[in-house]
Amino acid sequence: MATQTDAGDQKLHAVPSAEDEAGQAYFDKIIAEDSRIEPADWMPEKYRKTLTRQMSQHAHSEIIGMQPEANWITRAPSLKRKAILMAKVQDEAGHGLYLYSATETLGTPRHVLNEQLMSGKAKYSSIFNYPANSWADMGAIGWLVDGAAIANQVPLCRASYGPYGRAMVRICKEESFHQRQGFEILLELANGTPAQKQMAQDAVNRFYAPALMMFGPTDTDSPNSQQSMAWNIKRFSNDELRSRFVGMIQEQVKVLGLTLPDDQIRYNEETGLWEHGELNWDEFYEVLAGRGPCNAQRMERRREAHENGAWVREAAAAYAAKKAQKAQVA
Ligand SMILES: [Fe+2]
Ligand SMILES: [Fe+2]
Repeated sequence: MATQTDAGDQKLHAVPSAEDEAGQAYFDKIIAEDSRIEPADWMPEKYRKTLTRQMSQHAHSEIIGMQPEANWITRAPSLKRKAILMAKVQDEAGHGLYLYSATETLGTPRHVLNEQLMSGKAKYSSIFNYPANSWADMGAIGWLVDGAAIANQVPLCRASYGPYGRAMVRICKEESFHQRQGFEILLELANGTPAQKQMAQDAVNRFYAPALMMFGPTDTDSPNSQQSMAWNIKRFSNDELRSRFVGMIQEQVKVLGLTLPDDQIRYNEETGLWEHGELNWDEFYEVLAGRGPCNAQRMERRREAHENGAWVREAAAAYAAKKAQKAQVA
């Protein structure tokens, strides 16, 4: 049976029209010049599809990523910590909004993207399916998870698709604050009582490997990366970015007076890359397939939040309709 995707792929293989050929030539020129593609420009269907998938997954990750930390807002150890954490979680909601808006410029409406998330058709970053068990996890998440996100996202500020690159500039500024606040939580715990230091170490131990897996599968298992790099969406491979991140955190962990749970970290002079111990990729694929520790809970909470927000959407739509009507009369 021909599915919608099959039909889409057939279209891709159809004889290109003169308009398509001119569009492709313009697109190729823009990419070769390392310049930017804007929403109204012609673009290959596969470029549009790849970006829609990547950007919406990114938006979903920002929104689902609010959950593990929101869980600690009411239990933050002080008013100051509560205010900082609340601001951070709100930033993530903002990141989701910029990214959904940027994705919509590729032609898929927001409600469709949302349906894809809630039906389980769309993925989000596997890291958010791990629980946040202690206050120190707020530190480890900020330092390692937001840190990995920055390492991944700074090169995306130069992504060839204009709205994505521009959204990333602001997001990365806020992510830097997120990483600092996480590091500072760990620093304070690491310099606290032996029990607090142990709590910080436990959190780092739990989040280290999942954070490294945020860069995605190894280059040999990431077939789409090459195309994304040719299109100037991605600038560095998964392994390159992961290696850079390991190099960065192995220095920072010394300032914390903690250790990384990996005795195989070393700098390879020949390749110029930081190497690390073997990661459990079976676990990564299990979590990605929806069988991680918190997948069901995260999705249930998201659906519940969507239902609870129905009145806000209705009110906003009614207000917009009223405004449009008034403008028409005027
Ligand atoms: Fe974010
Ligand atoms: Fe963040």
